[in-house]
Amino acid sequence: MNKKNQPEICPTIVPRRFYNCTLNEKFLYTSFLLLAGLGYLMALAYLYTSFDGIDGKPGLSVEDVAENYYGNRSGTRLESALRGPMASYIEVEQRNHVVEWLKSGALQADYERIIKPMFDERCVMCHSPDSGLQIPDFTSYEGIKLVANVDTGVSLHSLMKVSHIHLFGIALVAFAIGLVFRFALLPAWFQYTLTLLPFVAIFIDIAAWFLTKWDPIYAYTVIIAGGLLGLSWALQILISLYQIWFLRCRPGAPCNDK
Ligand code: HEC
Repeated sequence: MNKKNQPEICPTIVPRRFYNCTLNEKFLYTSFLLLAGLGYLMALAYLYTSFDGIDGKPGLSVEDVAENYYGNRSGTRLESALRGPMASYIEVEQRNHVVEWLKSGALQADYERIIKPMFDERCVMCHSPDSGLQIPDFTSYEGIKLVANVDTGVSLHSLMKVSHIHLFGIALVAFAIGLVFRFALLPAWFQYTLTLLPFVAIFIDIAAWFLTKWDPIYAYTVIIAGGLLGLSWALQILISLYQIWFLRCRPGAPCNDK
């Protein structure tokens, strides 16, 4: 038989564990895991403050997620803003006039009569080109018309932007955390599942953003997949940190050979 076709005889591979790592490696892994964990908590806080109350109610809810991606198709951006972030700038009664005006088709004639005086007094100090803010200009009917159309949520274009940033960023973080986590000593099935989970979860999560634009029911998928990502990272980080510093090799086990 041709010798070249003989399979090479490999030495049996004993996987490295945290207790085989040098102190220097342990410092490196620990610092990275702590900072990555902090980064994740910061992302959660950011998520909470930017989604909180989109639907006008406090707290992050399925409705907030649905409204962010699907929009509030029964209302307009102007109405959502007046019920949410801009609510404090207007009296309830005035808001009702605006909502009525929107429902009646947001006509220009009524705008001059009812809306303009109100907005000139309450909104234009910020919502004008003079303010230097990048927000809708309410000094003209045309400017208001832009936010008086039905709200269809975040645009497909900005979804694509956010998704590719998330895919690249999260894939890298998941990869790095996974590289450290591979040294953990765990039942194989559990370790494999936990290693794959963040990748699967982020794929489902981002796919569900797009699906939610189409049907708000997928807001549940967004939340569940996001939760799975957080859970799997939390487990990988905590298990690794624990084993780095506390897991010792059993006497007589192969790890004590060297
Ligand atoms: C003190 C400054 C200020 C005042 C007064 C103010 N706004 Fe705003 N408004 C902002 C800023 C800043 C943003 C952008 C940040 C955000 O979306 O929260 C904004 C955003 C909005 C948006 C969201 C636009 C979008 O992209 O969907 C609408 C609609 C809006 N304002 C309407 C109003 C109305 C109507 C009034 C008057 C009753 C008003 N605002 C008064 C500062 C102001």
